Amino acid sequence: MFKILQKKKLAENTFMLEVSARKIADKAKPGQFIILRIDEKGERIPLTIADKKKNSIILVILNVGHTTGRLSKLKKGDTLSDLIGPLGNSSELDKFGTVCLVAGGLGIAPIYPIAKALKEKDNKIIVILGAKTRKHLFWEDKFIKIANKLIICTEDGSKGTKGFVTKAFEAVIRKEKLNRVICIGPPVMMKAVAHISKQRVKTIVSLNSIMVDGIGMCGSCRVKVDGKIKFACVDGPEFDAHKVEFDNLMQRNTRYDKIKHKRCY
Ligand SMILES: Cc1cc2nc3c(=O)[nH]c(=O)nc-3n(C[C@H](O)[C@H](O)[C@H](O)COP(=O)(O)OP(=O)(O)OC[C@H]3O[C@@H](n4cnc5c(N)ncnc54)[C@H](O)[C@@H]3O)c2cc1C
Ligand code: FES
Repeated sequence: MFKILQKKKLAENTFMLEVSARKIADKAKPGQFIILRIDEKGERIPLTIADKKKNSIILVILNVGHTTGRLSKLKKGDTLSDLIGPLGNSSELDKFGTVCLVAGGLGIAPIYPIAKALKEKDNKIIVILGAKTRKHLFWEDKFIKIANKLIICTEDGSKGTKGFVTKAFEAVIRKEKLNRVICIGPPVMMKAVAHISKQRVKTIVSLNSIMVDGIGMCGSCRVKVDGKIKFACVDGPEFDAHKVEFDNLMQRNTRYDKIKHKRCY
């Protein structure tokens, strides 16, 4: 059993859980994720380890459906029956030079540990955060502490620049000599960023394909990268953005949308 030590609303429909998990916290590296089950009848869902403390991990969750909805109702002191991880490969962390990190929506959480680690490696960090409105933004305070430059974009202009992150990214790529781009967000956003950076700078994306086992056995998370089948859980979740077939990812991510799930409880 894994105890919830803290729960906090971060933004519209988005909340943070601090979960006691010493062994996972010991080993977790930026870019890795866990798979959890709330109870023995629960579905398994993957969530990125967005931060960690000595004996606990921080999860940031956007309530989009059944299990994230159930998680949103849990309180401090409640428990999760299963937590496996850290899963997936950790991010490549090196001294690249100038790194632009582009995050949209919930992508703000998984990009944070990567940005922090790259700053510790002495990179110049330019961070672009995008959200629907100011009410959907979170962790600006954490990014201010590590970013050399922080650009905020909201779709309605309620904070920062009005518009999508792609507009801000186009301005940055014109002005700065970038050595690496890392982008996490909805597939459509990652596809657009990859399009802009193609033939200009190596770009890494973290893919949120639907996962079941998280250990490369079930095939649920398969994605096409460079014309080959890869499993996001064991070969990724990070891949070279210029080799990812985003349309295939987007199509596969909607494959259960029309199915009415028959829940067992
Ligand atoms: C490696 C990885 C890391 C992730 N990290 C986080 C995280 O840190 N925080 C977070 O909130 N979410 C994260 N996700 C997405 C999260 O796993 C899904 O939102 C969750 O599984 C949805 O479960 P549900 O039962 O609430 O939704 P469901 O009721 O199953 O579905 C609701 C809607 O969500 C869509 N959906 C289901 N699974 C996914 C998915 N994997 N990606 C995108 N859309 C999906 C469905 O198509 C449907 O439209 C991550 C996904 C992956 C693969
Ligand atoms: S989640 Fe089963 S193979 Fe990746």
